[in-house]
Amino acid sequence: MNFQAKAFDPTTLKTDCLILALFDETSLSGAANAIDAACEKLISKLIKDGDFKAGLGKTLVLPSVPGIAASRLLLVGLGKKADFNNDKFRKAMTSLAKATVDTPAKSVAFAIDDIELSTADNDWKSCQFAQSLTLATYKYDFTKSEKAKPVVLKTVVLGADKESVAAIKSGMTRGQGIATGMNYTRELGNLPGNICTPAYLANQARELARNQPKMTTKILKEKEMQALGMGSLLSVSAGSDQEAHLIVMEYKGAAKTKKPYVLVGKGITFDTGGISLKPGLNMDEMKFDMCGAASVFGTMKTLLELQPNINVVGVVAASENMPNGKATKPGDIVTSMSGQTIEVLNTDAEGRLVLCDALTYVERFKPETVIDIATLTGACIVALGNHACGLYSNNDDFAAELHQLSMSVGDKAWHMPLFDEYQQQLDSNFADIANIGGPAGGSVTAACFLSRFTKGYTWAHLDIAGVAHVSGAAKGATGRPVPLLAEYLLSKA
Ligand code: BES
Ligand code: MN
Ligand code: ZN
Repeated sequence: MNFQAKAFDPTTLKTDCLILALFDETSLSGAANAIDAACEKLISKLIKDGDFKAGLGKTLVLPSVPGIAASRLLLVGLGKKADFNNDKFRKAMTSLAKATVDTPAKSVAFAIDDIELSTADNDWKSCQFAQSLTLATYKYDFTKSEKAKPVVLKTVVLGADKESVAAIKSGMTRGQGIATGMNYTRELGNLPGNICTPAYLANQARELARNQPKMTTKILKEKEMQALGMGSLLSVSAGSDQEAHLIVMEYKGAAKTKKPYVLVGKGITFDTGGISLKPGLNMDEMKFDMCGAASVFGTMKTLLELQPNINVVGVVAASENMPNGKATKPGDIVTSMSGQTIEVLNTDAEGRLVLCDALTYVERFKPETVIDIATLTGACIVALGNHACGLYSNNDDFAAELHQLSMSVGDKAWHMPLFDEYQQQLDSNFADIANIGGPAGGSVTAACFLSRFTKGYTWAHLDIAGVAHVSGAAKGATGRPVPLLAEYLLSKA
């Protein structure tokens, strides 16, 4: 898709599809007025007769509207003007994007600068629009015998005057770059566990770096991890026929002297629970247990698209969690790379076991900050549901920064506590630390566990168990939290 920003007259512009956003109000404004006047008050009539109610996200396609040069008009409702806000804008963009790609239009035009929203600028609006549209073009078909039809939409024109053209262009580019990363994250997340193995993810990293002068990849296999003393990570892969891989991707966009920002992703390509076997119901969804890793891949992809001037290291701890005769058992004690011994009381609390060694490993990069991303606990879903991820940090300023950014980009993260009182839940009679902290505050104690391994740098942890994928009829990976990670990194360029 090719995005352009320029001034246009909505009545005379030749395009396959003209998008018109309408508030649920009796009077029309801006582009709506101009179009209404050109098409003999068709819009006013539709609204008056109740044929189009401009409720939030409602859409209607009108072909062959007289008086305008566009082949069709796509109406999208914005709801009541008084209730309108950034979240509602994003919701409207999502449904408008879906309706747009459902039309046969090869070109679309949208007077985005026409939508009044005092809490957002043109850069933000066009970023959200480009993101929604690019997300709407994704359809999973890797393991379907019938492939998805290629997207026909080629040209997207956003309305802009002299003052807004630069902001709209930069927003579109960023939105497209972020969504391209998100679509990659979604694809990796959606792939089944028998295809998307740790070795498969390692190959993805090699593919990503191919012909990319700014990116290098290094893959550590089990022998190398053994030599580094990663007894905790290896205790998870012990029960699987698939070899664990520690995947290191370096994006070098700035001088060598600039400290890198580090991302660490949980890459459990399938989580059976191990010997602490999970119940069968919905266990298929544990193929999504590598969505943290997938968000690291997606963010690296966004960096390659946008080429910002920063250094970023993306690390993925990839393993299966399976129960076989060599599998780790409850009560087993393993030694992590940090030297701390861990009593594995529950082999289903495996995410923290792979992450702790990866978090110790990344000390070598002398990072500016480290963010780990993990579908870590069901307890986080109990606490926050499916709308915000859990955000933990050993630095309150860093947490505040990420929280604020998450709210403004609409990829919500909620600051959770790491109070000292919780730490004692991890006490073990037989090792330095236990890998579970009992039923109370399960997301917090999981984060507490990780905090034992991140004392050497500024660190945040995102528990994305509730937001990385959706269940039910629309089952699939969401691409979150790539927007938050990408915008954070871009803000440092
Ligand atoms: N991958 C799961 C967490 C999860 C659960 C993600 C549901 C998405 C949806 C994780 O490895 C896990 O099994 N956690 C356990 C921890 C418990 C044993 C302390 C959990 O949440 O039940
Ligand atoms: Mn588990
Ligand atoms: Zn897991």
